Amino acid sequence: MLKENFAQLIKIHGYVNQPIAPALDLQKEIRKLKEEKNAIILGHYYITPELQDISDFLGDSLALAQQAQKTDADIILFVGVHFMGETAKILNPGKKVIVPDLNAGCSLAESAPADRFQAFKNQYPDHKVISYINCSADIKALSDVIVTSSNAMKIVESFPKEQPLIFAPDKNLGNYINSVTGRQMVLWDGACMVHEKYSLEKIVTLMEQHPKAVFIAHPECEQQVLLVADFIGSTTALLNYVAKNESTEFIVATESGILHQMQKNCPGKTFIPAPSIDSTCGCNDCSFMKLNTMQKLYLALKYESPEIILDPATIEKAKIPILRMLELSV
Ligand code: 13P
Ligand code: SF4
Repeated sequence: MLKENFAQLIKIHGYVNQPIAPALDLQKEIRKLKEEKNAIILGHYYITPELQDISDFLGDSLALAQQAQKTDADIILFVGVHFMGETAKILNPGKKVIVPDLNAGCSLAESAPADRFQAFKNQYPDHKVISYINCSADIKALSDVIVTSSNAMKIVESFPKEQPLIFAPDKNLGNYINSVTGRQMVLWDGACMVHEKYSLEKIVTLMEQHPKAVFIAHPECEQQVLLVADFIGSTTALLNYVAKNESTEFIVATESGILHQMQKNCPGKTFIPAPSIDSTCGCNDCSFMKLNTMQKLYLALKYESPEIILDPATIEKAKIPILRMLELSV
């Protein structure tokens, strides 16, 4: 196919939309292509179990950024959402970073368009800007430091108490950090469409039905949900917690993809997904993460497309706060 036609196809669909022979063993083909092209597959815990199992490295947002920083692969295939691919590209401007589907966005990243954020920032000229990694490269370029849910508390606390701070784009994580640290960071009004959907009422009912279960939650959840949680942590922290904790039953308030690793690591334990306000909507699934499929992953690797492209000036600016985060996270 002509290069121009191919680019047009990506523009229309956001992914390589080509027929695949039904008999093809996709897992075998992906392994072969990986080898031939010296590619690495980085996957987030929220992707489907089959994609988690084919990833070379599976992790939370911080571990994935760290892995992207140190890989010597020629091609990074990022199976997660767009801002994660962008972070990998910013850390590796000379490498090809591809994703299965460019439509895999993030409600948090989308809540903060760069022009509106710049105007917001202008209102607080003496504030430093701390941005959650779930934001676009343009927002990163406007930030002093990036954080993930694993290191946010530590990085916020690395600023002197008298330093005024903006925290963006997740108001729930920002609010949680404010409540623990006693800071009064100015918060951008963004939220994760998965984590803000948990129903406190249904969670409390579930806790009554399972009195021995431990309730664990990701800090992107709303404050009312976090208030009843026995443990709050990033996806990696939640995984470590369930492995070490003696309880055998857990109610889990984060995206459902995480249950696969929990079940794999702790086969004897029971993990119950926390209920959402609308139990018919599949709200525990991040619809963006779930746009990634084995077929799209295979085609992305085969055609080395769609690729994450960023302009060099944005890369230069966005790299500074990401590297600051990585230095503060060792
Ligand atoms: P972590 O990977 O930092 O736990 O964040 C979860 C998330 O929402 C990723 O989009
Ligand atoms: Fe974004 Fe929420 Fe999906 Fe994570 S789970 S990618 S924060 S929408």
